Amino acid sequence: MRTAVLEGLRADPPAIPPRFFYDTRGSELFEAICRQPEYYLPRAERQILRENAAEIGDWLGDGCVLIEPGAGASVKVRLLLEYARPGAYVPMDIAGDFLRRSAGRLAEEYPWLDIHAACVDFCHALDLPEGLPAGRRVAFFPGSSLGNFEPRDAACFLRGIARMVGPGGGLLIGVDTKKDSDRLNAAYNDCGGVTAAFNLNLLDRINRELGANFDLDQFEHRAFYDEDLGRIEMHLESRREQRVRVAGEPFDFDAGTRIHTECSYKYSPAEFTTLAERAGLRLRRRWQDRECLFAVYYLECDSLKPDGLEFALA
Ligand code: TRP
Repeated sequence: MRTAVLEGLRADPPAIPPRFFYDTRGSELFEAICRQPEYYLPRAERQILRENAAEIGDWLGDGCVLIEPGAGASVKVRLLLEYARPGAYVPMDIAGDFLRRSAGRLAEEYPWLDIHAACVDFCHALDLPEGLPAGRRVAFFPGSSLGNFEPRDAACFLRGIARMVGPGGGLLIGVDTKKDSDRLNAAYNDCGGVTAAFNLNLLDRINRELGANFDLDQFEHRAFYDEDLGRIEMHLESRREQRVRVAGEPFDFDAGTRIHTECSYKYSPAEFTTLAERAGLRLRRRWQDRECLFAVYYLECDSLKPDGLEFALA
């Protein structure tokens, strides 16, 4: 974390890698974002999963090994567990303590479910734990997390998923769609200020863990949709000229200097399908909510032809 944060802050423009959002506090704030009225993504996705649960259950099939990179509190998988009886569930998350507690609660609620939690950073590796039962592997990647990769990395990630599930395996994925910018801008600027708190928690975490002295009152959450690039950009903007020390190293910010923290790309169904097929995942079914705000796709890996898409992110 120290090396990555220092390198990011030295860059021009400065940036902090978004994976550091998710300490325990960050994971809790993210769950709170998902309850904000403006943040339509989880509601639209939940509607899709709920209304099509039986059909989705049929696609997954009984006895599959269901793998969820970035599972967080494993909230959404509960919707699938009504209709699918996986042979095993593999929640993966970078926040180890949070994952352990979430997996524990899930085990209490679903005593029949065989859970194999894995503390991994899915940006780096998709290694499965040992001792999984046989059964078709199906990855579950909801929440439009794919949009948080650069498109080229998204293709590599999908390729990594195809390799992980292998021929005959599947992917159930939720992806946010392109839409008018007012709706998108509102979603990432909730009135409750929770997304702002989530963004600023990054600085608080760096203060605590790397011995830095960011003044949280002197940075402002900025999020906006760039129509040409088809993405939301999130930044922390310096409110004034200031010097901050991180692990002993000084960093100077002018008023208005932005630290880039996250992107959230939006894909039309046609764009997403092309991206996935390049990675060797063939579209089998697409579902949308009534307002067409969001899409859930089921894809299958036919075969693994070599294609030069190596999964190795920064
Ligand atoms: N993938 C979701 C999105 O892009 C969730 C998410 C990731 C998010 N990072 C975020 C939401 C930062 C708000 C702020 O919307």
